[in-house]
Amino acid sequence: MNIITTIEEMQQAAVSLKREGKTIALVPTMGFLHEGHASLLREGRRQGDILVLSIFVNPIQFGQNEDLGRYPRDMERDCRVAAECGADIVFTPDAAGMYPAGFQTSVAVADLSLPLCGASRPGHFDGVATVVTKLFNICQPDVALFGAKDYQQLAVIRRMTRDLNLPVRIVGMPIVREQDGLAMSSRNSYLSLEQRRSALRLSRAIRLVRELYGAGTRDVASLRRAALELIEAEPALTVDYLDFRDGATLELRDTADDATLMALAVKVGNTRLIDNTVLGEELQPCRELC
Ligand code: PAF
Repeated sequence: MNIITTIEEMQQAAVSLKREGKTIALVPTMGFLHEGHASLLREGRRQGDILVLSIFVNPIQFGQNEDLGRYPRDMERDCRVAAECGADIVFTPDAAGMYPAGFQTSVAVADLSLPLCGASRPGHFDGVATVVTKLFNICQPDVALFGAKDYQQLAVIRRMTRDLNLPVRIVGMPIVREQDGLAMSSRNSYLSLEQRRSALRLSRAIRLVRELYGAGTRDVASLRRAALELIEAEPALTVDYLDFRDGATLELRDTADDATLMALAVKVGNTRLIDNTVLGEELQPCRELC
């Protein structure tokens, strides 16, 4: 496995690989890998001749009072997981290389970036769209894989890729959950045991809503009330949003159907957790770390 730290070297490697007729699969991450990332890497291994993992904690997608400074990092362990999952290249540029003095270009996906996390984290998706465009230009992937836990991010990246005719196939992979249902996230490492127990209410609320929907409830106000009651009964949790939206346009829905997205963001102490489900899709079982 080759570890590349400069943009020039990565871009040259990608150009020569493409000249040799190789296809490239890219898994963009901010590191501190967990089983969700491992599932992307394993699928990327199947989908491309060359598997590239990028690790870059992207400063421009963090707001002023967010966790950029304390975002968890463990490059040694990440490289081990990458190697176990069959990565050929780990690309880890630094912020000065990605955003040199004078950098002033931004990619914005207008409407899809506004609600949900976009409302609580203004500018976040511009930062994501900009860095993903840069990573695509540097790594030249044929296919790029993203997790569905960041549902809105996946929607923004799909839209951007279509709108800008980027020659990359976007693959969305199911949320991977811990045995007890908590959606895997690098930010779970911030949680104390107590907070982690409280955080289980996110996935419990999702299961409850899916049960009510399965039993025939279609009225979004009733589904929302049931989920909020379950979450708000735990004083350690503060709901940022709990919305039911069209899974494609992210517009608010009054009546649920199989394509309805239930998306929630909840604060546990200083940690903001997100989770979601599309009501008509199957919940995935959890898997072992490779
Ligand atoms: O999902 C993430 O880890 C990041 O938002 C991404 C896509 C790597 C862009 O920095």
